[in-house]
Amino acid sequence: MTRTWFVTGTDTGVGKTAVSCALLAAAGSAGLSTAAVKPVAAGCDAAGHNEDALLLMEWMSEPLDYEQVNPVALAAAIAPHIAAQQEGRSLQASRLEGFCQGVMSSGAEFVLIEGAGGWRVPISERESLADLAVRLRAGVILVVGMRLGCINHALLTAEAIARDGLQLAGWVANQPGELMPCYAENLDSLRRRLPAPLLGEVPHMVPFDVRAAARALSLDRLLG
Ligand SMILES: Nc1ncnc2c1ncn2[C@@H]1O[C@H](COP(=O)(O)OP(=O)(O)OP(=O)(O)O)[C@@H](O)[C@H]1O
Ligand SMILES: [Mg+2]
Repeated sequence: MTRTWFVTGTDTGVGKTAVSCALLAAAGSAGLSTAAVKPVAAGCDAAGHNEDALLLMEWMSEPLDYEQVNPVALAAAIAPHIAAQQEGRSLQASRLEGFCQGVMSSGAEFVLIEGAGGWRVPISERESLADLAVRLRAGVILVVGMRLGCINHALLTAEAIARDGLQLAGWVANQPGELMPCYAENLDSLRRRLPAPLLGEVPHMVPFDVRAAARALSLDRLLG
């Protein structure tokens, strides 16, 4: 059976990819076959490859092609709908859904779809990446980058997810930078307000250690 989660974050650069790699590693350790999709990536190297997609490929068990993992690779590291416009491309949630469904039906038991930036990032004049999550009817995993301002970002994101009719399946407290002041109090404030279980706390690690992060996460609450 395939189970799919959409990974969003409180902002860009909060650790969606880092935590996604850790979730893939944790699921792999639990004996599940894994795959991940970065449907829209903005910011690619000369070969047209995005770093997030390459990292996800390192940690998933299924041998997918680059184009399956990252069907829309936009060159500039800017807002996706602007990057798409610059390249004369039009992005549609229905087409992105098709790409994701292709991977979801490839046989992997644990599938992650990594968003871009935060929940309401536009892909066109009309749609946002949230429309893709809605089409997939995916449970949502929220990566909270633990820094000043994260409580407001996390609560607004949780409200938007609920308004879109999706379930927040769990959240991860990730520390992309130095430990924030009053970390424990902030964590507790989030815990009491977010309507989903905390899957784990990922500390600041330089270099980032995917396996150590995986050990900090509990999939029990996701897999039920
Ligand atoms: N817990 C951590 N400890 C140390 N470095 C981290 C941690 N989490 C994330 N980072 C680093 O912070 C940077 C941003 O993380 P990441 O790329 O996972 O963010 P993202 O939310 O996926 O960003 P994007 O919106 O571009 O997809 C990366 O260089 C990553 O290695
Ligand atoms: Mg990322």
